[in-house]
Amino acid sequence: MLMRFRRLFLVFILLLPTGTGNTLAQSLREQADKRKLLIGAAVNPGRFSEAPYAETLAREFNMVEAENVMKWGGIRPAQDKFNFGPGDQVVAFAVAHKMKVRGHCLLWSEYNPAWLAKGSFTPEQLSKLLEEHITTVMKHYSGKVFAWDVVNESFLANGKIEPSIWYDSPGIGLAEKGTAYVEQAFRWARAADPKALLFYNDYDTEGLNPKSDAVYEMAKDFKKRGVPIDGVGIQAHIIDLDMAGISSLAANMKRLTALGLQVHITEMDVGLRLEKTGALMDQADLDRQAEIYRFVATVCVQEPGCAAFMTWGFTDKYSWIPGYTKGAKGKALLFDQAYAPKPAYRALREVLAR
Ligand code: G3I
Repeated sequence: MLMRFRRLFLVFILLLPTGTGNTLAQSLREQADKRKLLIGAAVNPGRFSEAPYAETLAREFNMVEAENVMKWGGIRPAQDKFNFGPGDQVVAFAVAHKMKVRGHCLLWSEYNPAWLAKGSFTPEQLSKLLEEHITTVMKHYSGKVFAWDVVNESFLANGKIEPSIWYDSPGIGLAEKGTAYVEQAFRWARAADPKALLFYNDYDTEGLNPKSDAVYEMAKDFKKRGVPIDGVGIQAHIIDLDMAGISSLAANMKRLTALGLQVHITEMDVGLRLEKTGALMDQADLDRQAEIYRFVATVCVQEPGCAAFMTWGFTDKYSWIPGYTKGAKGKALLFDQAYAPKPAYRALREVLAR
């Protein structure tokens, strides 16, 4: 009798939730699943062999996106060669762990291979190349990638179109015609994979400003004229611990979703000031960072059209920020270099638990 009681007690203890409460013991992924929200991270398949990288990713997220390997610079090493291997690894990881895959990206002015960026193509040749690229890549990943950033970062801060190989230098034959080249890319994308969701994605478009106004006007025009667009990606790379630029995020999101579009937060990170040694300048910045994550996630969960929340990487061990800022900023993500959760992680979990 005593033995049975002990065994029952043991089972009871093992079933008790850990942490401060049942919901807080759950991963981001479990909580997001309950809300039918996609929670994702940008990944590098070269790291999947690192156990804590793979374990953390599979435990905490239900969506992945390739940080670089599906871009032209990763997937198209030569004009007549596609390198699908690394992208396929991202898909295989997602299948193995029942995650969704977001695709990034089919048209961008940056990270294009040298043969393309430094080649001399006529607009007709570039147009053919782009159509072929969008078609080949989307068909390869059809049924595997559920949503694509078809076009990435086309606008300048003032809302004008950024000069680029695809727009006007020399462009695909639609130079000086505003967003016509973006429209063309979306039309090719819909034809290539009619089931994939098609997104326009940009940075510094969190709040209401000339750039987010331009994105909104383009999206409104596309919807009005039946140009196939399903959503807008708001990157949310936050470089200052300052809410000023993002305080109107909810209003911006609302006007986009009112058009019948989805919104995804696509690349969130919050870079913190670092000493030359790489240490944090101010420990309290971790809490400020957490509040910014909390704010953006709260706006997203309160807006029914915000279907996904993604961070640009997930461990401070691997993030583009220190390289880009020459070491001035870093520690921008949810997990530290040793994969321990940070205050930002806990803030996000609290938002999802509500
Ligand atoms: O893979 C090569 C490596 O072989 C070489 O030795 C090394 C030397 O520089 O470069 C490596 O490639 C780098 C690549 O990241 C992989 O680490 C490129 O130089 C570097 O330019 C590239 O940077 C990426 C950048 O996009 C350009 O593609 C960043 O990792 C990536 O985080 C960043 O992501 C962008 C989004 O796509 C769009 N929104 C903004 C975001 C941040 O810039």
